[in-house]
Parts: sequence; C-alpha cells; structure tokens
Amino acid sequence: MAHKPGYFGEYGGCFAPETLMEPLAALEKAYHQHVSTTAFQCELTGYLKHYVGRPTPLYFAKRLTEQLHGAQIYLKREDLIHTGAHKINNTMGQGLLAKRMGKTRLIAETGAGQHGVATATVASLLGLSCVVYMGAVDMARQPLNVIRMRILGADVRCVTAGSQTLKEATSEAMRDWVSQVDESYYVLGSALGPHPYPMIVRQFQRVIGVEARVQIKEAIGRLPNELVACVGGGSNAIGLFHPFLEDENVRMTGVEAGGKGIVSGLHAARFAGGRKGVLQGTKSYLLQDAHGQVAETHSISAGLDYPSVGPEHAYLHDIKRVNYTYALDKEAIDAAFLLSRLEGILPALESAHALAYVIKTAGQLSQDDIMLVGLSGRGDKDVETLSHFLGESDVADTI
Ligand SMILES: Cc1ncc(COP(=O)(O)O)c(C=O)c1O
Repeated sequence: MAHKPGYFGEYGGCFAPETLMEPLAALEKAYHQHVSTTAFQCELTGYLKHYVGRPTPLYFAKRLTEQLHGAQIYLKREDLIHTGAHKINNTMGQGLLAKRMGKTRLIAETGAGQHGVATATVASLLGLSCVVYMGAVDMARQPLNVIRMRILGADVRCVTAGSQTLKEATSEAMRDWVSQVDESYYVLGSALGPHPYPMIVRQFQRVIGVEARVQIKEAIGRLPNELVACVGGGSNAIGLFHPFLEDENVRMTGVEAGGKGIVSGLHAARFAGGRKGVLQGTKSYLLQDAHGQVAETHSISAGLDYPSVGPEHAYLHDIKRVNYTYALDKEAIDAAFLLSRLEGILPALESAHALAYVIKTAGQLSQDDIMLVGLSGRGDKDVETLSHFLGESDVADTI
C-alpha cells in the first residue's frame, strides 16, 4: 500500500514543535542526499564489518530446541556485536549522517543504556561530543551502562521528572535539541518519534533481517515459519521483520512487556492495553488513562518500558501482518535463566521477552517448523536484576 509521506497508514506523522520542523526537514533532506550514495554506503558497510562486527551469526539453539519438543529455534545473535546490542547498527548510521551534516555534538535518550552506550561509542569513534539523557529509575537499574557511557566520555544527565524513565529522557533530549539545534544532532534510538526518524532507524536496522534472510536460506534452504522479536519502540523488531514483509508464509510476532499483567495496569503492552494517540511527535498506540493522559508503565526491562510503540508497528498490527503479544516480567526472567543454563547465552531482559514467547509456543509447533528469534542484546547489564532471582526461578532449578 502507498502511504502518505511520513505516515504508515494513519500512523506516524510529524507532530513536533515549530522550532523542530525545520531541523527535521533538514534531517530528511540530508538523509536522502547522503545515505544512498556509494561513498556513504561504503563507509557504513566498512564500519559495520570491521568495527561493529557484522554479520552477526545465526545460531541453531540445539539444546533449547530439544528442551521445547517442537519447532527448531534459531537465534540472530545481535548480542555479539560491539557494545552488546543491536542499537549500534542505528547509531553508526546516524553518526555518519551527523558528520555529513557538519554537526559536532550528539544528543541521545536512553532507557536500558544500550542506545546511550552505542551513541557514546560512535561519538568517540567519530570525534564528536555526546550528551545522553537517562531517567533516574533507569540509571539505578542499569548502572553498568551508566559507567560505560561515562568512561566513553559522554555527559550522562539524570532526568528526575515524571516516571523517571525513557519517556522523560526523550522529552529532555528533544528540549536540548531545540536549544542547540545548529551544532547538535539528535540520535533517536528507536523506530519512534516524528518523521523522518521511524523511517531512518528502520532503514539502519534492516541489516538484521537482510542478513538473517540469507543466513537461514544457507542453513536450511528455505525461509523460517515465524520471526520473533521483542518490541520496545520497535527498532530491532522492524529491522528483523521488514525484509520479510512480502513473504506471506513467514509469520511474525512482536513481544511487548506484559510487566505484572494487563489487569494490574503495571505493564508496557501498548497493543493489549493502549489506544490510538500522539506522543513525542508520532501517532501510534499509546497507554493512556480515561482522560487521555499518558499512563505510567512498568517493565522489569528498562528498554521495553515506554508508553508508545513505533508507528510502523501500529500499522502492521492493524493490517494483521504482525501478531503482537506480551510476556510477563516473571516469564522473561525464567527465559533468561533457561537460555543461560541451556545454551550458555545470557540474554538482555528485553530479548528474554521474545524468548519467553518462544518457550510458551514452540512445543505447539511441528519439529519441521523454524522459529527465528531476534536476540537483540546480551544480559551483562542485567546481572544485578537477575541476581535477585537466583534460586527463585522455576526453570533454573529444573536444569
Ligand atoms: C537489548 C535491547 N533489546 C531491545 C530493546 C528495545 O528497543 P527496540 O524495541 O527499539 O529494539 C532495547 C532498548 O534499550 C535493548 O537494549
């Protein structure tokens, strides 16, 4: 279907303050001017290969597959790239674009800290200064990434407004951008925000799906039956899904944070518990109260703890191309322990939501079915959280 520029069906758009309309238009112009050129693509591909560590492996999880008695499970190992999560695919691309635009200063928001670390990393690499906004709650639960950003030379600014998580960090980053727009480039970290960000971030994350498509064909001679990825803002999921959207026989499932359950109200499951609305520049599904105020969210994983979701996902949800579900905090914790004990891979708590869905459903599928799971990041940042569940996780004790 042809979309209105900047929209995915009725979702997306550019609901930004007057002062940002011009910089957003300049960003879109620069993107179209530079990104498809051979020089830009050569530079980006070179960095992705030699610095970031792409292509990432596609790994057959044999012991997990045996344990689940159903579909064969393949993991797309974004956890193995430099800085430990998919976020750097996007920051590498946007960092190079910032350089082309003559910017000297990168601004970022971060939830789990992975996007902040990836932005600080690229800033060092390209000789740019870097300011990262992070909610106080997220700083407390992801201390490793706060230290990493500071060692890398970033100025990490603590945001104490509202729920002190990603939403408030994003607002602060946008405010900073407005105030120093000439020298600054705002590196938005997910497929969110006003146009052109959802499109730009998706294009830089598509590398995940493009590689996975080739790799699964090499491994089994055909495409998988189902793709699975966790959905915070939605960048790793759209990056994996997008190159397969035309493949009608490939099912796709995005897994949101069910937190403590939908009824409890303590979750970030925008499709199960939200309705249409506008937040931070884009129209999408949004968690809100009866008066339309943005609702508080909860997730054990900072990277999924956000009240809205990327607009392209809202569209893919409505046309029923992608199925969206959620995993509870407890299910994600169990999944993280299970993968660690069976495969020696400690996943990020965000990625563990995708694994929780796989653990619940693989047994209902035939042994000929293939599930390809986006393992968006590694769990080093989450060991403190996980340590509280040692001895309490049901699955950990059964292995
Ligand atoms: C490892 C990891 N996976 C997933 C996410 C969620 O973001 P997105 O939905 O944009 O992929 C994050 C966010 O911080 C993350 O750190």
